[in-house]
Amino acid sequence: MKENYSVARLLENQHRDIDDALKNMVGQGLEVPDCSHALERLRFHIYLEEAFIFPILENRGAGEWTLNLKQDHGEIWRCMESFHENSRERACAGSRKTVSDLHDMLRIHDDKEEELIYPVVDVFIKKYKLASTFIEIDSARLPENWICLFGEARDS
Ligand SMILES: [Fe+2]
Ligand SMILES: [Fe+2]
Repeated sequence: MKENYSVARLLENQHRDIDDALKNMVGQGLEVPDCSHALERLRFHIYLEEAFIFPILENRGAGEWTLNLKQDHGEIWRCMESFHENSRERACAGSRKTVSDLHDMLRIHDDKEEELIYPVVDVFIKKYKLASTFIEIDSARLPENWICLFGEARDS
């Protein structure tokens, strides 16, 4: 493991990367294969957080913010699903609005994580000697058909 490896930096870079991709989607049009790629990265990011990052805090009595963040994930997830529905129906205006909503939602969510969660995660990893987290994250793959905790469609 590299001495200066930082989970916070890795996750913040993923935020920037996904944010740029969504900005392009809103600004330059919606080529569906590109969109799918960006949304796949977002799904993977959410998976890393729910499967590896949040439990680091929850298992040590510092998970007071993670429920709120998981609820955000649920909304984000359903928004991605509705984007896919719109794309299938070729409703481009609807898709653009959905991506724009997703982008807005994500900015607020990312700010919360970067302010409240990520700074603590690296500290905890060091304090509780959780170096294996880096290896787990490095080799993680999004499991097929994985859905975030609150990502199931709601009955209307
Ligand atoms: Fe998140
Ligand atoms: Fe995040």
